[in-house]
Amino acid sequence: MNAQERAFVAAVWKFYREHGRHDLPWRRTIQPYKIVVSEVMLQQTQVSRVLPKYRTFVHQWPTTKALAEARLKEVLTAWQGLGYNSRAKRLWECAQVVTQDYHGRWPRSYEGLQSLPGIGPYTAGAVMAFAYNEAVPILETNIRTVYLHHFFPQQQAVSDQKIAELVKRTLDQTQPREWYWALMDYGSYLKQTHGNNIQQSKHYTKQSRFIGSNRQVRGAIMRTLTRHPMTRSQLRLELASFQSTNVEQQLKRLLAEGLVVKQGGKLDLP
Ligand code: ADE
Repeated sequence: MNAQERAFVAAVWKFYREHGRHDLPWRRTIQPYKIVVSEVMLQQTQVSRVLPKYRTFVHQWPTTKALAEARLKEVLTAWQGLGYNSRAKRLWECAQVVTQDYHGRWPRSYEGLQSLPGIGPYTAGAVMAFAYNEAVPILETNIRTVYLHHFFPQQQAVSDQKIAELVKRTLDQTQPREWYWALMDYGSYLKQTHGNNIQQSKHYTKQSRFIGSNRQVRGAIMRTLTRHPMTRSQLRLELASFQSTNVEQQLKRLLAEGLVVKQGGKLDLP
């Protein structure tokens, strides 16, 4: 590490000592299962909205095995409000693979974790760091923000590869768990105080607007079917405020993805 990098590390630790979010429930566990649940929820959803959902979820299904044995319908119902229902389905599938193929023990390696359904490089890295305290480089939006702010002010189209090099160089080898917590808290603070600089990133993709989106229609279909199974025409009536061709289109997608099923002439959650 050079002098600039050492000063950066000291600044991040100082911030964390003074302003770290030390009471987040997923930071009070080292169980891979609970860490995966929290990380999947935290992808694209704010901490404040995740908190109550996370608590209810791990209370209802405290272990990988409990989740594996749940009905997908119950899991999707518990997921209401978080959006991106396919994430819930993949999490449930992941619990089944770990239970059936790994006797309920989560893989210890980065590669092993990534072989599971729904577990990409970021989530695998988060489990390595937060569950196993292993120093692997990880990159997510808050971490990007911190490195862009400190090392690339004013620069545009900074590649993840460039950022990852710095993540590696500054990574704390003895306490990666706390180091990543510190980076995430600092990144979240920087976004609130300095605005979101993430458009400096070459890999930034703007989240699309929710109102009028396919995501909104998909969410409305799922929520409506949570109440009770219904026929296609009942569903169309319930969702009359949306464009009917789009309701049909999204319904077709949900059926293909297995997030909605047809049973006895009625549409239902799986
Ligand atoms: N703590 C652990 N993982 C986190 C995340 N993805 N966002 C915020 N805090 C976290």
